[in-house]
Amino acid sequence: MPLQIIRNDITKLNCDAIVNAANATLLGGGGVDGAIHKAAGKELLQECMKLGGCKTGQAKITGGYRLPCRYVIHTVGPKWNGGQTGERELLESCYRESLRLALEHDCQSVAFPLISSGVYGYPKDRALKVAVDCITGFLFEHDMLVYLVMFDKSSFQIGEKLFADITAFIDDKYVDTHFVSRRTQRDEWGESTVFGESEQATLSRESFREGAATASKGISFQKRTVSRSLEDLLKQEDESFSQALLRKIDEKGMTDSECYKKANVDRKLFSKIRSDVHYHPSKTTAIAFAIALELNLDETKDLLLKAGFALSHSNKFDIIIEYFITNGNYNVFEINEALFAFDQSLLGV
Ligand code: APR
Repeated sequence: MPLQIIRNDITKLNCDAIVNAANATLLGGGGVDGAIHKAAGKELLQECMKLGGCKTGQAKITGGYRLPCRYVIHTVGPKWNGGQTGERELLESCYRESLRLALEHDCQSVAFPLISSGVYGYPKDRALKVAVDCITGFLFEHDMLVYLVMFDKSSFQIGEKLFADITAFIDDKYVDTHFVSRRTQRDEWGESTVFGESEQATLSRESFREGAATASKGISFQKRTVSRSLEDLLKQEDESFSQALLRKIDEKGMTDSECYKKANVDRKLFSKIRSDVHYHPSKTTAIAFAIALELNLDETKDLLLKAGFALSHSNKFDIIIEYFITNGNYNVFEINEALFAFDQSLLGV
């Protein structure tokens, strides 16, 4: 995945270049600047002293010294001043200039902290959006592996309402595949039917409501409304994931590269899928394509099934994906914000 949003300490990353959120003097400071100088050793400061500083929005490159990376790209982000004095343009320039230097130095991989979102006070959610927009824009034109390194959880700030909506959606859908509490059993089945504590039952609230459940030990059958014609289903029955994906790309009027870049899947992986009709992708990759193609829930389930997967109500990651598809929100950035807020792995990582 060309853009990976990860939680880590940037000084530990063994990639070609890491980006430092520096100040205009380039002589070190606190935050990530301090951490990078501390880990790199005094040689980094000695080289920085020869650079003559750096303007806000600009970037300069040095060696990595004792860091595991080859280069350090120092860029100076804007101080947040309410958002009306060109802060966003300057922050965009930081990412653009840093990526330009990485390209010029043949870097295959580069890691960014969330520039300006610490001491310089840029609101983290806005800083994240600028970072993701700039990096994904660059990756539409260039092949590079870019890490966006989140150092603390507050880096992702999901709106209160969205968080509450998703929590309610999870509560409603989430099927606990562990022992169902006796109270729940009574609530759901009424006094008469109670599973013994020793039995493990996969019980689905939905199926109770639809009255379609036949739940016995660990098994539940859920009635699923099939909204596509039987003929369609039979026609696509023996289609592989690869064939279904390419058909969907054509049906959506997208080009291959538009689709795999929107899915944040790298070109090499896509060409593997394209050339091997029986290729089996990971579940995250299959879901990323469903989101890029903006498939509805049934189409998503069909595509996943071709790869041998299903959206499960005992998996919060799947339920959050189902929430966004059900609400027609295919913004990978917002989906990742939600996944991050619920401690789930991210799409495109
Ligand atoms: N790895 C990854 N990210 C980190 C690390 C680390 N080791 N340490 C801090 N961060 C994150 C912070 O959590 C924040 O999200 O880096 C982001 C940028 O925060 P700052 O380092 O405070 O940088 P910035 O907001 O751009 O302010 C720059 O702070 O350190 C001084 O000398 C620097 O004056 C300059 C100013």
